[in-house]
Amino acid sequence: MARRILVTAALPYANGSIHIGHLVEYVQTDIWVRFQKLRGNDCIYCCADDTHGTPIMLRARREGVKPEELIAGMHEEHVRDFAGFDVAFDSYYSTHSEENKKLAETIYLRLKEGGHIDTRDIEQAYCESCAMFLPDRFIRGTCPKCKAPDQYGDHCEICNATYSPIELIKPKCAQCQDTPIQKKSQHLFFKLGDFTDQLKEWIGGGHVHEQVQNKLQEWFDDGLKDWDISRDAPYFGFEIPGEKDKYFYVWLDAPIGYMASTQNYCNLNNKNFDDYWHNPETEIYHFIGKDITYFHALFWPAMLMGSGFNTPKQLAIHGFLTVNGEKMSKSRGTFINASTYLNHLDPQFLRYYYACKLGPGTEDIDLNTEDFVLRVNSDLVGKVANLVSRSASMLNKNLEGQLSVLGDEGAALIKKLQDESESVAEDFEERRYNAAVRKICGLADEVNRYFDQRKPWVEIKEDKAAAQETLTVALNASRILAIYLKPVLPAYTEKVERILNIDSLVWSDAQAILENHTIGSFERLIERVDPEKVNAMIEESKEEQQEHQRAESEPSELDKEPIAEQITFDDFMKVDLRVAEVVKAELVEGADKLLRLELSLGSETRTVLAGLRLAYEPEQLVGKQMVMCANLAPRKMKFGTSEGMILAAGPGKNEVFALRVDEGAQPGQRVH
Ligand code: MSP
Ligand code: ZN
Repeated sequence: MARRILVTAALPYANGSIHIGHLVEYVQTDIWVRFQKLRGNDCIYCCADDTHGTPIMLRARREGVKPEELIAGMHEEHVRDFAGFDVAFDSYYSTHSEENKKLAETIYLRLKEGGHIDTRDIEQAYCESCAMFLPDRFIRGTCPKCKAPDQYGDHCEICNATYSPIELIKPKCAQCQDTPIQKKSQHLFFKLGDFTDQLKEWIGGGHVHEQVQNKLQEWFDDGLKDWDISRDAPYFGFEIPGEKDKYFYVWLDAPIGYMASTQNYCNLNNKNFDDYWHNPETEIYHFIGKDITYFHALFWPAMLMGSGFNTPKQLAIHGFLTVNGEKMSKSRGTFINASTYLNHLDPQFLRYYYACKLGPGTEDIDLNTEDFVLRVNSDLVGKVANLVSRSASMLNKNLEGQLSVLGDEGAALIKKLQDESESVAEDFEERRYNAAVRKICGLADEVNRYFDQRKPWVEIKEDKAAAQETLTVALNASRILAIYLKPVLPAYTEKVERILNIDSLVWSDAQAILENHTIGSFERLIERVDPEKVNAMIEESKEEQQEHQRAESEPSELDKEPIAEQITFDDFMKVDLRVAEVVKAELVEGADKLLRLELSLGSETRTVLAGLRLAYEPEQLVGKQMVMCANLAPRKMKFGTSEGMILAAGPGKNEVFALRVDEGAQPGQRVH
């Protein structure tokens, strides 16, 4: 009976591009899903962009766009990149969707009803000038252990120490460099400990690879801690029902995105959501990287248990990608974006190479660029594809594309290939893709031996019928190998189908034989990898990195202007600088770089249009005291008249810092 299977891959963050490290996961998952579909199972592949959280909110601010616009652009890019690698989702959705909001609320309210939510005051770093609580990553300071300067709030990249941001020496807000204060606020906690026994039982039930079970045991030994699921405004996410200015922490609604994406699939295909998330017969598989195990092996199943949904049948956890034995590196050009890869190389090469390397465990996998070229050229092109090319073109040229029958020797060889079907299938099922590819290549070796012994290029001159038999065997073998490779190389197999002039192949077709059939015309199947193209891809990745750095450090246009004509001291003293207090600050419709400020000079107020929009949110400025040039002649601008100028400096864009006066100055007071 066909199994109903729901497969997910982790939801990529919407604030970055897809790179070849991500692709380990999306390709691994895609291979598995394609395999299940070829086996006739009812299997769907759901994913989405993970859109919420502080980094996305702040990046949108920096770029002067709404977070919704930022994530819409990224969604488009991600969809394009995945399609470029033949990663075929049945639903690619977004966590910023109505469905996800509803589901997150439902699950939260059920957990709350079940008594699994606690409230507690906690103290956290807060930046007064940014008017926000700072996640650890947004605090920088000197490491309390090794005294290395400029380290993150949660860990030191120099000595690897972990600590709380309070322990940092001279902590600074990474956004504005102000010193954060400690501020109390009430947070909501999910009582993970309530589920300790259920989780232990679940994990003992074989839902995770044994390598991971040991790690999980350590976490149980430490005791499961309550999980803080709320964040204070401003935050890009969903508001928590029944609370004021509180949002769900991104990791609460992210895995719920698996459900929202399923819901989206159901809406589009007239299917029933409950068949996936309420029917215990349905098998749910989550493919993830080892870095997010804690969320998926503890928080997520506990959330599902506490709200009455199906728990996953299996967590398929993979390791990390290294390139030439090292972490992907921007400066070495091995941090390769999906789109950069596609500028140079065939996506099938990477799918094939990852399949060669992937097993069921959590070991890291290495992309060795020399090995990559070698394996694709000698195995995929040399052993598998060449067989099709040589046989099909010979048959077309000399025998009108007409297959005959196998003959005894050939039938025995084909039977051997057919008999491996279940064993190869089991390798795919158990995610031993490396073993599957090894077997397929071993079979290809045997077929090549047969081919080379029979020498059809000689037979064709002496005994056409014998040559026809040899080519019939070679193409039947190629057809079976193409079936076994179809989960990995769908585009390759489709070409083989066209060349052989047959319908789309499924797994069970391996048991059939193609005789007395006319094949189609020949087309090029797959090119060899040109090592120069691999180098070119690495060079382009390096350049991207350099451009990125240049863009970050490039002085704004203004800085490039030559120094202006000298002025006298008296000229300078004509500039009347005053303390100005911001009474009101608002966005200027149609102007993405300007803020309209109402400034008090004590005796009068002025309206100033200031180019601070990319650097500040209006509410951050209200009540702040700044320095303004008060005797500047009013200037008519496109968006109104500006009656003065604020002193601010910085490289530009989001990095413009308004000169601020210590609290308590007198508005209108002269500044020297
Ligand atoms: N948004 C979270 C996942 C939420 S799931 C409810 C996240 N996003 S991510 O973009 O950082 O990573 C997405 C997936 O790609 C993760 O499973 C992660 O392990 C995987 N990988 C990211 N970089 C990787 C490598 N360099 N190598 C292998 N997998 C990698 O985590
Ligand atoms: Zn700040």
